[in-house]
Amino acid sequence: MTSGSTPRTGLSGRILSGIKPTGDLHLGNYLGALRNWVAMQKGYECLFCVVDLHAITVWQEPKELLRATREVAAGMIASGVDPASSTLFVQSHVPAHAQLAWVFNCVARLGWLNRMTQFKDKAGKNREAASAGLYVYPNLMAADILVYKATHVPVGEDQKQHVELTRDIAQKFNNDFGVNVFPLPEPVIEGAGMRIMSLRDGSRKMSKSEPSEFACIYLTDTADGISQKIKRATTDPNPLPDSVAGLEGRAEAANLLNIYAALTDCTLEQAVAEHAGSQFSQFKVRLTDTAVAVLGPINAEMKRLMDDPAEIDLILKRGADKATAIAAPVLAEVYKAVGFLPAS
Ligand code: TRP
Repeated sequence: MTSGSTPRTGLSGRILSGIKPTGDLHLGNYLGALRNWVAMQKGYECLFCVVDLHAITVWQEPKELLRATREVAAGMIASGVDPASSTLFVQSHVPAHAQLAWVFNCVARLGWLNRMTQFKDKAGKNREAASAGLYVYPNLMAADILVYKATHVPVGEDQKQHVELTRDIAQKFNNDFGVNVFPLPEPVIEGAGMRIMSLRDGSRKMSKSEPSEFACIYLTDTADGISQKIKRATTDPNPLPDSVAGLEGRAEAANLLNIYAALTDCTLEQAVAEHAGSQFSQFKVRLTDTAVAVLGPINAEMKRLMDDPAEIDLILKRGADKATAIAAPVLAEVYKAVGFLPAS
């Protein structure tokens, strides 16, 4: 196993992570996040959440949001997230997230939110037109984590700042109210050293917002679709190098070899050694076969689940019940600390 798929030793506690239902799951989600989550289930209590409340911080077509919510859940299950041992649920099904987020809106300082680079990136030049939800997005994420007193949060590098903010919020809440309600959660950075880049441009992250339809391999792609995309992947005129150092300045070659290494659970060094001197055309055939072998069964299971939405919905309902059972007492603890009059 590569470091990307092995849980770190010494890690114990409760894990929470989330994926936004804002489009189709792709290879980057699978190799960077999902595969990691699956490995973490072995030793840790895990909660995995489809974060639909986060999705609507930017406009989502309602029908598409509904479809994507089920599809992300199906993708998690098909990738190996086990609803029997992990808690798999939809964020909006557990109102405690939004309720705690409100309290955190009153704990976090504007100065803290103003430093969040994701807001700056997403709002762009037209800040005035961004939703208020996008601005307080990190407070909701803090609530996702802290409403379960999660201790470890697997996230991509781009979300590390939000987990640090979560720690600041936890600390300030505990200090302000003179309590010790929240632990300070640790980010667990996913797929370190293994960023999956666009197939068309090795300098851009693989993402659903890539302009070319051939840039990104989706978990829903057919074998033929995967083959077409890999065939069209950008390369350079030289054969593959015989050392990792030889990938210097060859971002596309490095990306394809990284993907191969991740899919076959070997190191980049091993992948380079295996294909040293190959032409891209030969290597692409191997890469396609490998990708189809790994993604084919996931794709088939997603399809099976999407054809039976009632099964997905039942799994998510059970997950929401389990999540609520953990979250409700924590929210009660928070409300008491704040001084809210008990409702009953
Ligand atoms: N903000 C995360 C992302 O964009 C998704 C997310 C929402 C999340 N809530 C979370 C991740 C809680 C980890 C923990 O990828």
